[in-house]
Amino acid sequence: MIQKPKGTKDLLPEESFKWQEVEKIIKEIFETYNFKEIRVPVFEHTELFERGVGETTDVVQKEMYTFNDKGGRSITLRPEGTAGVVRAYLENGMGSMPSPIKLWYNMAMYRYENVQKGRLREFHQIGAELIGSSSYLADVDIILMANEIFKKLNIPNIKLTLNSIGCPKCRNEYQKILKEFIGKNLDKYCDTCKSRFEKNPMRILDCKETKCKELNLGAPKMIDYLCDECKEHFENVKSMIKKSGLEYEIDSSIVRGLDYYTKTVFEFIDESTGLTVLGGGRYDGLVEEFGGPKTPAVGFALGVERIMEMYNNQNEDKKPDLYILSSGFKENEMALELSQELRKKGYVIEKDICERSFNSQMKYANKINAKYLIVIGENELQTNKVKIKEMKTGDEKEISLNVEEIIKIIK
Ligand code: HAM
Repeated sequence: MIQKPKGTKDLLPEESFKWQEVEKIIKEIFETYNFKEIRVPVFEHTELFERGVGETTDVVQKEMYTFNDKGGRSITLRPEGTAGVVRAYLENGMGSMPSPIKLWYNMAMYRYENVQKGRLREFHQIGAELIGSSSYLADVDIILMANEIFKKLNIPNIKLTLNSIGCPKCRNEYQKILKEFIGKNLDKYCDTCKSRFEKNPMRILDCKETKCKELNLGAPKMIDYLCDECKEHFENVKSMIKKSGLEYEIDSSIVRGLDYYTKTVFEFIDESTGLTVLGGGRYDGLVEEFGGPKTPAVGFALGVERIMEMYNNQNEDKKPDLYILSSGFKENEMALELSQELRKKGYVIEKDICERSFNSQMKYANKINAKYLIVIGENELQTNKVKIKEMKTGDEKEISLNVEEIIKIIK
């Protein structure tokens, strides 16, 4: 039997109902902040991610699903949403629309990762991007909107961690100091770290190898080298978040795995597993990197599979309101007519579509937990009366065989 590829998941009906519930709640939160949905292609030109996410990141160096299409173009399945959304923003002239632009998405992502708990190769992100504001107020709105998701979904034990990784100006200075620190032990780092030393030493702080992590202990921290503008921005973000009553921790080790970040970065961590459920930050240089005008932006994405692990249903999936049992052509015709009328009015109706026996239909109606049942036989057609049975109690009532009478009972 052919099995699904490693790192993918089937979403079965019980689980998909849970997903729909979560998706609905999050969509409603986004709507209250006036974010609008965007959908972008599953695949993009590879260069978009190389330039946007960064050539020296793990995502680009190790994790992308990249292939040449039949026309010889290098194509990549999106490993994240921000690069594609910013490309779409530019390509569709959204820069000339009333600013800021506020977009949200719910999309599958693809990363060739080492599969483990919470780490898949096909996974889903729900994210938001706010493009066109450099103010700390935009960071605060984005972080509060993210937090609202955990509150509305009743997910406890979530910790907000914050950091600032500065702008290209202060980061340049910091990188010199960081290189001095790493340079002393460079020969002891892994090959990937060594290869990143010249181009992007900050990436070394994000290495998952134990020996590199140990070597990184005591490394100088970006947050201690912020320029005045970045410092003021971060102070404003922190004090506004504090005023809003949301607790946070400063974690100066957050560098994030993608190169486009500037200034504020943040993560919402599941305290019981230590996994990051939601991550984001400011990316003031990305629009320009893609050839647009200087345009500040901030956003986040959450891992849907990770949030689902922590979410308990608030409701039950719908059960059939009515099972219409019938056999014989004329009876089936009546069952079809009734079911179509009732479905049009929004009721969940089940009826026989397998030409099963009376007993089999009865068993099936029980198994699928239908709330009510009617049996259409020769007698019912002649008298135009039918018994409607409440399955849970066994109570029966005789009514006229028409939609209005049925609705009076099942509504
Ligand atoms: P990210 O931190 O790479 O950020 O991913 C965001 C979230 O996606 C993670 O916190 C995690 O919950 C989930 N995630 C990532 N990789 C996997 C995986 N292999 N399996 C399951 N879940 C995963 C971004 O992608 C940025 N684009 C977020 C952003 C938007 N920043 C600004 N705007």
